[in-house]
Amino acid sequence: MNYQTNTRDCQAWKDEGLEMSTTSNEAAKLLDHAIDQMFCNVADPAMGGMIGTVDKMLEADPDFFMAKIFSIGVRGSCCRNSPTIAKLVSELESVDDSKLNEREKLHRKASIEWATEKKRDALRTWEYILLQYPKDTIALLFSINGYIFSGQSRMLRDSLARTLPYWRESDFHFGYLQGYYAFGLEQSNQFVQAEKAVKKSLEINPDNTWGLHAYSHIFDATCRSQEGVDFLEENDTFLTDDNSLTCHLFWHQTVNLTELGHYDRVLKLYDDKILSFKRTPNAYHLSDSVQVLQRLEFEGVNVGDRWEEVYSVYKTMYNSHELVYDDMHLTAAMIQSKTGRESKSNLFESMEKHLNKSLDTTYGDVCKRIGFPFAKGIAAYCEGNFEEASNLFIPVYKDIWEIGGSKATQDIFNQYVINACVRSPNQFHRRMARSLLHERKLFRPDSLLTDRVLAKLDAHH
Ligand SMILES: [Fe+2]
Repeated sequence: MNYQTNTRDCQAWKDEGLEMSTTSNEAAKLLDHAIDQMFCNVADPAMGGMIGTVDKMLEADPDFFMAKIFSIGVRGSCCRNSPTIAKLVSELESVDDSKLNEREKLHRKASIEWATEKKRDALRTWEYILLQYPKDTIALLFSINGYIFSGQSRMLRDSLARTLPYWRESDFHFGYLQGYYAFGLEQSNQFVQAEKAVKKSLEINPDNTWGLHAYSHIFDATCRSQEGVDFLEENDTFLTDDNSLTCHLFWHQTVNLTELGHYDRVLKLYDDKILSFKRTPNAYHLSDSVQVLQRLEFEGVNVGDRWEEVYSVYKTMYNSHELVYDDMHLTAAMIQSKTGRESKSNLFESMEKHLNKSLDTTYGDVCKRIGFPFAKGIAAYCEGNFEEASNLFIPVYKDIWEIGGSKATQDIFNQYVINACVRSPNQFHRRMARSLLHERKLFRPDSLLTDRVLAKLDAHH
C-alpha cells in the first residue's frame, strides 16, 4: 500500500481553501494519513489503524476539532450504541462557535445528525459543505458511505459528478475517486461510462480495491459473470486480509460462480476465504456470509450446518439495530439456524421496541414502513411458509432499495420475493413470480440464474 508521502501541513490545507482550527502541523498531516487509509481500505498498522491515527492527532493537539469529526465518521456507529460516540458528540456540542470556522461548524452539524440517526439530514449537510468546498475529502467520503447505506445510488453518482471537475489528475486521491464514480455510474445503469471511469481508476491505482469492487459490480450488472471470475482471479494479489473490502470481493466472486452454477466452488470459497473473516466479526462480514449461503439455498444447494456457525458468530449483534439492512441479514442468520430460531420472538420484539422509540430517525422510518414487514417475510420464508412470506413481501418489495446497500446486495431481497412466490401454493403469487422474472429478464437478459428459476416455475406449475 502506497500512502502519500507529501501529507498537508496547516498552510497546505489552508491553500486548498480547507483551513482548520489547529496550529499543529503534525495533527494536520496525520489527518491526511487517516484519509489515505480510508480511501485505500487498509488500516496502517504502524499507526494503530484509523482509530490509532485519530488518537495520535489528539495527542498532537487535544482540541483538534476535525480529528473528533473524523473519529465519529470512521466508527460508523451512533450515540445509542456507542458511549464513545455519545461522548464525542457531547464534546463537539460544547465547543464555542467562536473557535470554529464556517466549514467546521457545518461538519459539526453533519456529524451530530449522523450520530443521532438523522442520516438524511447529515447527507444534506455534507452536500451543502461540498457545494462550497468541493475538495473537502471528509465530507465526500462520509457522504459516499451515507449514500451507499441509504440506497441513494443516483445521489452518489451526482455528488461525484459535481465535485470531480474541481480535482486534478495529479491529486493523490483522483484515481480512488474515479473508482467511487464508476460505482455510482454502474448503480445508475450507465455501464459504458462506468467502465471508462473504472479503467481510469485502475490505470492510476491498480491496487485500488474500490476500483476492483466497482468493476465487479459492472460485471455483475451486465451478466458478464465469467469475465468477473477471471478479473478477480487475475487481481487476487490485492485481496489481502488487511483490506476491509477483501471479504466483500470474495463475496462478489461467489455471486459470479453462483450465477454460473459452480456451487462447489462457491462453498469452497466460502469455507476457505469468507469464513476466515469471522475472527473479526462485523456487519459487513455478516451480510457477505448470509448472502452466500442464502443464494446457494435459493438454488437448492444444501449448505450443511453452516448457518449454525454464522448465528454463533454474529448473535451478539441482535439488539444493536444499527441499520435496517443489517437487521435483514441478522433475521436470515437467526431463523436459518435451529438454535437461533428459538429466539425469533426476541429479535422481533427488540426490533419493534427500537423502531417505535425511533420513529423520528432514519432507522425508525425505514424499518416501520419496509424493514419490519420484510424481516417477518424473511422469517416466514426461512420457516417454509411461502404463502405468508409472499403476502408480507409483496406490499413493500418495491421500496426495499430504501434500506440501503448496492443493487447487487439488494438482489438477495428480489430473490426472496421471487422464490417465495414461485413456491407459494397461491396462484396469484405464482403469477406474480412470472411477472417478476419477466421484469428481471429486462435488466439481466443473459442471466442463467433467471432462466433456471423460470424453468423451475414452468416445471412445477
Ligand atoms: Fe459490492
